[in-house]
Amino acid sequence: MALTFTLLDGRYHDRRSFSCGVAALDDYLRNWAGQHQRDGIATTHILIDDTQPAHILGYCSLSAAQLYLHELLEEHRKRMPAYPVPAMRMGRLAVSANEQGKGYGRLLLGHAVNLALSVRQSMGIRVLIVDAKDARAAKFYEGYGFQPTIDARPTLYLPLGRHKPTSAPPYPAQTQRP
Ligand SMILES: CC(C)(COP(=O)(O)OP(=O)(O)OC[C@H]1O[C@@H](n2cnc3c(N)ncnc32)[C@H](O)[C@@H]1OP(=O)(O)O)[C@@H](O)C(=O)NCCC(=O)NCCS
Repeated sequence: MALTFTLLDGRYHDRRSFSCGVAALDDYLRNWAGQHQRDGIATTHILIDDTQPAHILGYCSLSAAQLYLHELLEEHRKRMPAYPVPAMRMGRLAVSANEQGKGYGRLLLGHAVNLALSVRQSMGIRVLIVDAKDARAAKFYEGYGFQPTIDARPTLYLPLGRHKPTSAPPYPAQTQRP
């Protein structure tokens, strides 16, 4: 058994049998995630076990976003320019009800953080943001260092710290003239 992340593909992945206990999150996966992915609204990343590749253990959806500077805690506003803070939003996170409590939510969150750090090799992303649907969800995120925004609840954010470029740029720094 190996756990893998992949992008949702409605031709292969069984969205119908996914149930996390929150109807709106099941409905999104079944009816909206594919369309949003095609339309450039959000990508949906799913966690699968390679022995049952059609079975969705959990998912998160990601899109570009921003926060206003005044929504960050004062300690996170230092050295920041006076315009909106570039962000990645994890708009939804859900784990199948009979797979909860096995660490998959943590894995999906870690996957989103890794993707944000990887995209940051090519464009600015200062924070990962989430919308907690209730106090329990907020507690889950706060356990991983997310901070409540000022005046923008239920949004929380995870500061990604300062960017450390990898030694190799993601594309050639110089190209030859033809
Ligand atoms: C919230 C959710 C994604 C967590 O996924 P999971 O796979 O069950 O969580 P994990 O097994 O990775 O648990 C990681 C940690 O979070 C804690 N945790 C799990 N669910 C929690 C919750 N609802 N509230 C607070 N903490 C929670 C666990 O106790 C665990 O802590 P530990 O590492 O100290 O033991 C999952 O329960 C879920 O899909 N719930 C329904 C949908 C939902 O509420 N989504 C939140 C988006 S707003």
